[in-house]
Amino acid sequence: MNQRVLVASNRGPVSYQFGAGGSLTGHRGGGGMIAGVTDGLAALGPETSATWICAALSDADRAVARARNAGPRDEGLEVGIPVRMLDIAPDIFDRAYNRVANSALWFLLHQLFDTPSQPRFGREFRRDWEAYLAYNEAFAGALTEEAVTGEGDLRVLIQDYHLCLAPRLFRDRLGEAGPAAGIGHFCHTPWAPPDYYRMLPDEVGRALLDGILGADRAGFHAERWATAFLDCCAAVLGADVTRTGLAGPGPGPVGRVTYRGHVTEVAVHPLGVDAAALRERARAEDVRAHADALRRAAGDRKLIVRVDRTELSKNIVRGLAAYRELLATRPQWRGRVVHLAFAYPSRSALAEYRAYTGQVRELARQITEEFRTADWDPLILEVKDDYPRSLAACAVADVLLVNPIRDGMNLVAQEGPVLSERGCALVLSREAGAAATLAADALLVNPYDVTETAEALHRALEMPDAERARRGAALAATAAADPPARWLGGQLASLGLGS
Ligand code: G6P
Repeated sequence: MNQRVLVASNRGPVSYQFGAGGSLTGHRGGGGMIAGVTDGLAALGPETSATWICAALSDADRAVARARNAGPRDEGLEVGIPVRMLDIAPDIFDRAYNRVANSALWFLLHQLFDTPSQPRFGREFRRDWEAYLAYNEAFAGALTEEAVTGEGDLRVLIQDYHLCLAPRLFRDRLGEAGPAAGIGHFCHTPWAPPDYYRMLPDEVGRALLDGILGADRAGFHAERWATAFLDCCAAVLGADVTRTGLAGPGPGPVGRVTYRGHVTEVAVHPLGVDAAALRERARAEDVRAHADALRRAAGDRKLIVRVDRTELSKNIVRGLAAYRELLATRPQWRGRVVHLAFAYPSRSALAEYRAYTGQVRELARQITEEFRTADWDPLILEVKDDYPRSLAACAVADVLLVNPIRDGMNLVAQEGPVLSERGCALVLSREAGAAATLAADALLVNPYDVTETAEALHRALEMPDAERARRGAALAATAAADPPARWLGGQLASLGLGS
């Protein structure tokens, strides 16, 4: 039978910019969600067609969306998946994305509010919340149109905290008369425990949970986040929650929520990497050239690498502080190690992110000033996103530092060991979702403990070659065990889609 998959997410696989003379150039979106869905869809068999519904994020995206709506739908640039971009009114989009999703929900789910002053849910937030509802309605409307016009056995995969209301809205719109559609929601972030979650206004907290419970399956990267979601359903909604727990490291269901007569299965689907494709990409000339340049720049010094978008959860400032403490307390490493810190721009529309980027730059400047010598630069901070250079840095790293305060999964912790040429030591925050699968072979740290992180960097640098290679190979094998095809295919299978 003909099978169809609809994906809905805020950011799509491609976003456009105006170039000279009004020309349009497209580039692939960043973040783990895009990588997982793109590669997962690419692995679907020929009997399954897919359409990706996303929001127009920029004026250039809007121009593309309008042109497409006027003519035949074309393929999304590079990714080979038909993309439908929603031209949502800029004010609605701004309030839904920047104010609700990024300023409220993202901070809530990562438990990152500076609580003596934030959040403040006043009248302005209630207006923003109306926009979030309208934005979710726009997605539910587009999904419904696609559902009723196309043919085939339909599954719908709705992504992330931007679209918590969409599963329920879509289910209601489709109603009894519409085609049967299995609905999945996947949250790529952590989920917060009830005590923290309850910071939201009551009606908002209930609406978000009720929205996700419109899905047949609610997915998370790690058991911790899935369990927190179950806890919120019980505590905030008073829903009927059955807990089965996860038998192994996943994937699999952890429980069920029955609410308003509908059952939602809550499950863990860890997202790893497509090791073969990643290694193939790393063999390309552009990556090789960067790797050679990095090796030349490092000489016989050891390399500590980090690669992050500059999100407040990534803990770049404490990571730099740990490197500073390493150099201060273990002078034997001075002149013998270089820290390559890639901190790429993210969400610069938010003042908190701009301020954080400033802190990263300032601390990097201080470290360089304090320790630099005539023939040694202790730290190279790069803020311009460069994918081939990131892959090259992972390939040549001796130590990979991944120390988020909290993270749904974290792909860098998995890509790094897969790309590493000689096996790298991984210093990993215990608060990353990926710690659930990588713990045995990584050096786990409490992300708030700068001294412990500095010590872990020291142990990682000192690790004998054979042990580093052994641990690196084990980390790479674990990361490769849950490729995007399995992550996405597992969700579709749980929604009853045959392969
Ligand atoms: C983080 C979250 C993802 C989310 C992404 C959106 O990486 O972990 O769950 O999809 O941000 O980023 P954006 O740049 O689109 O706001």
